[in-house]
Amino acid sequence: MSYQGNKGKNIHGWFRYKEGFSEELVKNLINKFGIQSNDTLLEPFGGSGTTLLVAQSLGINAIGFEILPICHLIWQAKSNINKYNLEELNNILKLIETQTPQKVDLNFPHLKITQSAFSQETENDLMFYTHQITILDISQETRILLKMLLMSILEEISYTRKDGQYLRWDYRSDKIKQRNQTRLQQEKKPIKLFDKGDLPTVKEAFMKVLKITIDDINSLKTRSFIYDKSYQDFRQGSVLELLPKIEAEKFSGVITSPPYCNRYDYTRTYALELAYLGIDEIEIRQLRQSQLSCTVENRSKLESLENLYSSLEQHNRFLFCQKILNTNQVFEEINNALETRWKRGEVNNKGILLMVKNYLIELTFVILEMYRTCQQGAYVILVNDLVKYSGEIIPIDTFFTEIAEKIGFSPVTIYILPQRKGNSSQQMGKFGRTALRKSITVWQKP
Ligand SMILES: C[S@@+](CC[C@H](N)C(=O)[O-])C[C@H]1O[C@@H](n2cnc3c(N)ncnc32)[C@H](O)[C@@H]1O
Repeated sequence: MSYQGNKGKNIHGWFRYKEGFSEELVKNLINKFGIQSNDTLLEPFGGSGTTLLVAQSLGINAIGFEILPICHLIWQAKSNINKYNLEELNNILKLIETQTPQKVDLNFPHLKITQSAFSQETENDLMFYTHQITILDISQETRILLKMLLMSILEEISYTRKDGQYLRWDYRSDKIKQRNQTRLQQEKKPIKLFDKGDLPTVKEAFMKVLKITIDDINSLKTRSFIYDKSYQDFRQGSVLELLPKIEAEKFSGVITSPPYCNRYDYTRTYALELAYLGIDEIEIRQLRQSQLSCTVENRSKLESLENLYSSLEQHNRFLFCQKILNTNQVFEEINNALETRWKRGEVNNKGILLMVKNYLIELTFVILEMYRTCQQGAYVILVNDLVKYSGEIIPIDTFFTEIAEKIGFSPVTIYILPQRKGNSSQQMGKFGRTALRKSITVWQKP
């Protein structure tokens, strides 16, 4: 189901968006649920755009939403597949091959958490190429593609590695050197050193991805006619704010995967890429708050949702959603159980209580809007993971299926995939081992 299935698979492999779908999964679901070329798919949590891009490759219309600007750059570069001029790309490759990066007077627009992610030489070369692609006389599509490719190598050329919720830092970074110096002064044990090994130069990494991209474009050109046949639109912003404004009964189906309720903060994992696009600290905080509540820092969005629905003269929709949640026993049970465990001292961060509650509320709003904007007979296919906090399993798939039923959907099926991960060793010792499943829930608008 996951991005791992995309490795080496033409455009889907151009940026390693680890939270992405595999191309195969989307294709299988489109086939299985009979989505056809005149249909319009909705992808409320677009990510790297897999649903939209597969739809595009099959001549199916698609509209997606996504808050992160990096995802929009990725989608733009991939969805332009039909517009690239191979001669132009090969000329650029030759130019990079023969050129030596010069010293430039430009700095990487660091965020606090990305400081010292590159060696001085790497940072200079990165900014050299970044500047080069703005001054070369090339098409706008190629410029976007090259920017995306430079963004795609940031992790590889840096002292960081994405590791679950965090960035791991190589021992050569100033951040780690300073941290260990402070620990030594405090007579504490130094932190364990992480060695990323030899890092490629920017030139090597850039040339490598550009070569792969040229090969991919070359091989896809032979079946390119279908790519321009459909309507594709990927809108930047929160689905919670944008979907309520879409006309009713527009979509013939939904294939999506929201962020999981697992404290994973996309703005941290992709900090390097966001910084590269010039996103500053204030914007990062805004993006973090706009995410579907999946971190302990997220605040309630209820007030802003109420204002939004009022401004659309749809306050009754807001109240309906509230009623569905407030009369749901499982919703009450989950919140009470977490509250009890917090009082017993079993939950290590009170923010988890609010995060889970807000996650359940916000996704209910999205389901309500999916129902309204779907046509009769449309299937909604949603991939999600169960989560567990202090021994309390949150039955995400069955909970939302019950909510979807109350909203008006008919449940069709839940495909499940047992997970090996999901229990930290600390949690396992304390609360026992329980397999947390990954599920694909399927509902239909009758
Ligand atoms: C699990 S990923 C989806 C991956 C996608 N299926 C793919 O193939 O790349 C969830 C996505 O939802 C986005 N997201 C989180 N909150 C959002 C919101 N309020 N509105 C729109 N997108 C949101 C995240 O930035 C993330 O890219």
